[in-house]
Amino acid sequence: FGAARARPEDNTPFTVVLAKSGERYEIPVDKTILEVLRAAGRTLPSSCESGTCGTCKTRLVGGEPDHRHLALSEQERARNIMICVSRAKSDELVL
Ligand code: FES
Repeated sequence: FGAARARPEDNTPFTVVLAKSGERYEIPVDKTILEVLRAAGRTLPSSCESGTCGTCKTRLVGGEPDHRHLALSEQERARNIMICVSRAKSDELVL
């Protein structure tokens, strides 16, 4: 049970754009959004890092998300993603 972390071979790279700052981050196939933003020096809350607890919930401003978590209702999913597991179906996600 729980959202399985996808294997890198199932992933495609994409770009995360931070709406407030305009900063852009490339998310490679073997890293999560959370990992890339932390490596860039951002302090971000997390707990389970498997898509179940909701601690890393982040506002989704644009792009088509690939929700890989079990948390959130359909309505909430339209505006939020869990950055510990979710990826993008589009080339870019704006957060
Ligand atoms: Fe628990 Fe992301 S850290 S859902």
